[in-house]
Amino acid sequence: MKTALLVGGGLIGFSFAQRFVDAGWQVRMTDVRAELADAVAQEFGDKVRFSTNLEDLTDSVDFVQEAGLESLEFKHKIFARLAGLTDAAILASSTSAILPSKSAADNPAAERIVIGHPFTPPALMPVLEVVPGPETAPETVERALEVYRELGFEPSAMKKEIPGFVGNRIQKVDMWEAISLVQQGVIDAKDLDTILRNSLGLRYAATGPFESNRLGGGPEGIKSTIEHIAGAWETEPVAGVPDMSHLDEVYAQVDVPTATTPRPSSPAPAAAMRCCAASSTCALHTSAYSARGVIRGAGCAGRPRHQGSPRAGRRGCHLPPGADRRP
Ligand SMILES: NC(=O)c1ccc[n+]([C@@H]2O[C@H](COP(=O)([O-])OP(=O)(O)OC[C@H]3O[C@@H](n4cnc5c(N)ncnc54)[C@H](O)[C@@H]3O)[C@@H](O)[C@H]2O)c1
Repeated sequence: MKTALLVGGGLIGFSFAQRFVDAGWQVRMTDVRAELADAVAQEFGDKVRFSTNLEDLTDSVDFVQEAGLESLEFKHKIFARLAGLTDAAILASSTSAILPSKSAADNPAAERIVIGHPFTPPALMPVLEVVPGPETAPETVERALEVYRELGFEPSAMKKEIPGFVGNRIQKVDMWEAISLVQQGVIDAKDLDTILRNSLGLRYAATGPFESNRLGGGPEGIKSTIEHIAGAWETEPVAGVPDMSHLDEVYAQVDVPTATTPRPSSPAPAAAMRCCAASSTCALHTSAYSARGVIRGAGCAGRPRHQGSPRAGRRGCHLPPGADRRP
């Protein structure tokens, strides 16, 4: 049986642990917070072995998913330790932003180090960005893709590293334009969300931008879309640049609970939200997706199912005490 080691038992570490357990792996977890031992036992029984001592857990490990602090100093040090404690394992980092070339700098196991970046909440989101550094071996990328597929993700490999990877770069462009349009007084935040949700949101859930524009171009494909419809994109419309030092008006429009803003306690009863209640971020996502029919079920205990990707929806949210994440 294959063995996975989670380094860090926060939101991301617990979520990966559940996926490895579901896939039939032997699972180990380490965290500096000794109190997590009880939470791990309660959540996973004897299926996850926990220790605060990394050295106790590294024997015969096949795959390490690092999910510790988001700091270069931490990543650099932990990968240096892992290099010496494992000889063949894939060493994957969950980092949202730290480039693999930096985490793996001067590391003798650099060819085994790769990024495996999930999106929150990873229990529901099928995406997984696999990002190699300049020294990552092609076999490491292939093995990471295989493992993530086995866990139920739909992973994609990048060819090389770049700040923000892919998802967050696209998200930045999207958010900057959205904020700029609100700041210019073109539209209210709520109406902008409605437009995006009912246009690109629905479309991209099924096709993505390239395929979508291929379909939009008819028999001649994307060439036709670009040449006939998007011909003026280079010059018009000019992308907006938001004023990031004056966001109060945007915040005032967005951070207002409305009748259509699901709260973590609704519609599921509190008990059903046991796991989600540990993380307001996860609970809010889950409630919003559930209320809008994207997933079935209302919370972790209901084991929500992602309509677009049944594989991703087999799992509920599994969160340790104290987890309370930003989006
Ligand atoms: N939460 C998100 O939205 C999200 C999404 C994608 C990627 N990520 C990335 O995943 C990683 C983990 O994020 P998270 O949200 O689970 O963070 P978290 O703060 O919930 O968990 C980090 C855990 O690491 C533990 N830790 C600290 N030092 C340690 C050490 N020396 N050894 C072992 N464990 C140690 C902490 O005690 C904590 O439990 C980060 O790199 C983050 O950027 C987070």
